[in-house]
Amino acid sequence: MYKTKAYSAASATSPLASSTINRRDPGAQDVQIEILYCGVCHSDLHQVRDEWNNFAPTSYPCVPGHEIVGRVTKVGSGVTKFKTGDLAAVGCLVDSDRTCPECKAGFEQFCPNITLTYNFPDKHLGGVTYGGYSDSIVVDERFVLRVPANLNPAGVAPLLCAGITTYSPLRHWGAGKGKKVGIVGLGGLGHMGVKFAHALGAHVVVFTTSAGKKEDALRLGADEVVLSNNANEMRKHAGSFNFILDAVSANHDINAYISLLGRDGNITLVGAPEKPLAVNAFGLIFGRHSLSGSPIGGLPETQEMLDFCGQHNITSDVEVIPIQKINEAYARMLKSDVKYRFSIDMASLRQE
Ligand SMILES: NC(=O)c1ccc[n+]([C@@H]2O[C@H](COP(=O)([O-])OP(=O)(O)OC[C@H]3O[C@@H](n4cnc5c(N)ncnc54)[C@H](OP(=O)(O)O)[C@@H]3O)[C@@H](O)[C@H]2O)c1
Ligand SMILES: [Zn+2]
Ligand SMILES: [Zn+2]
Repeated sequence: MYKTKAYSAASATSPLASSTINRRDPGAQDVQIEILYCGVCHSDLHQVRDEWNNFAPTSYPCVPGHEIVGRVTKVGSGVTKFKTGDLAAVGCLVDSDRTCPECKAGFEQFCPNITLTYNFPDKHLGGVTYGGYSDSIVVDERFVLRVPANLNPAGVAPLLCAGITTYSPLRHWGAGKGKKVGIVGLGGLGHMGVKFAHALGAHVVVFTTSAGKKEDALRLGADEVVLSNNANEMRKHAGSFNFILDAVSANHDINAYISLLGRDGNITLVGAPEKPLAVNAFGLIFGRHSLSGSPIGGLPETQEMLDFCGQHNITSDVEVIPIQKINEAYARMLKSDVKYRFSIDMASLRQE
């Protein structure tokens, strides 16, 4: 066991503050990573503030962060995929049972014995796992991903959650040429959804509550942008979508989007608001519409997504911040004032 610097929250109402945590010494299958950048996901904020109390109550202190890119500093004797000095990445998963049908099929995100990167029981040290707002992390090589060399690491970090969470359902529901795809909410997830849907060849329509994001949406790859609080603009798209990805972090009227689906159209929730959303049954019944959810992605698909980003030169649009600005970043995230993901430069933590 060794000590490493981190930023943690002591309670649901405390700001994140500098602290020290324990990490395990790397075992035979482990990779130790010096964290260079960690993206700031809205899930970090939900978790730190215990907004998902009914589903996943938060244990304190809580060290969030599951969009991790860093440099390998040590590998165990059994590690074959990585060597010291490699660039490597870790997302939302750090372990699973590896033996269940889901793990065997590469769908680790559905494993009943999953270990998430933070706020999950830590099998090695007891207590809970601590995430990427820290100097270093130790992870089994099976859960460590390779990073394409041509991409900027600060913009790669958010791919590990915002990237895979949007790539996976877009692929699953067949977003591509000849399909009309909507992306709701132009935040960290939403802006990656736009880039992927565009790269896959779909006709992409962005729904935003922020008039000021219109130009950006077009630049990111949208074919059309709709201000979702304008009923006239919304009506023009009634019954026309094959697929809609809803990446909104707060309560909103999902029925307004269900009515935009064409026959057999699907709307998938990736956003996870604190309170339940109300769904009008008739909106689903007429048109045989379906409503789904989707969590992150398994390791093979996460690697596929990173490789796809390497081939298409896709990264997240990031605002790089020092860790000392993390509480300010959370306040701005709540105002939808992020273009389009904060990425923490972890050198700022080492300098403290
Ligand atoms: N399913 C998963 O595996 C998974 C993975 C990661 C994150 N998530 C969840 O996905 C959600 C989005 O995460 P994120 O990191 O992308 O958050 P984010 O960067 O804060 O973006 C959320 C966007 O939602 C829109 N929005 C916010 N409040 C709204 C409101 N009251 N009404 C309508 N629209 C609103 C805004 O877009 P506009 O300004 O364009 O309206 C905002 O930029 C969070 O709930 C997060 O926990 C889920
Ligand atoms: Zn996330
Ligand atoms: Zn499993």
